[in-house]
Amino acid sequence: MTSSIFLSQQQIQARIDELADELNHAYRKKHPVVLGLLRGCVPFLSDLMRRFAFPFELEFLQGSSYGDKTSPQQEPVLQFFGTPDWDGRDVLVIDDIIDTGATLNALRKLLLEQGARSVMICTLLDKPSRRRVPLSPDWSGFEIPDLFVVGFGMDHAGKHRGLPWIEVMS
Ligand code: IMP
Ligand code: MG
Repeated sequence: MTSSIFLSQQQIQARIDELADELNHAYRKKHPVVLGLLRGCVPFLSDLMRRFAFPFELEFLQGSSYGDKTSPQQEPVLQFFGTPDWDGRDVLVIDDIIDTGATLNALRKLLLEQGARSVMICTLLDKPSRRRVPLSPDWSGFEIPDLFVVGFGMDHAGKHRGLPWIEVMS
């Protein structure tokens, strides 16, 4: 069951406008690889990238899943699609939410080991109170307390990803 709207469509879209402005400034002279973490990144990435004014390539990877639980079950498993070449590239990682930070930390380390010139992280939500590794997103839309949220890409047991707003699971 879900409760009332926590972040509305209007709030989310207005914040994505602001984030796109910041990213357009940061990447104005660059040609990054935009790397989306499936599956939660989809609505955020889709709305964000249509506001990008810089050239970019788009890649995806799949991270570990929470399964049906609300806490991570295992160490992150990172599965890329194809074999992108990260050597010398500026990589902009897009995800729905940073929670413990385990997934994004493992990803960041791997990309740097494979020669990426820079790895920046942009998440729609940030739950800093849950962090288990010293990692902060370079950009985040909203800082939230320790709540389990769904919608706008985020799921619980595979459900609610298509909501255009964000709700708190109750
Ligand atoms: P981390 O590795 O613990 O930072 O986990 C990040 C991933 O966990 C996110 O990309 C989401 O898929 C999932 N996650 C963390 N918190 C939530 C939440 O509140 N709702 C839905 N998914 C979440
Ligand atoms: Mg995710």
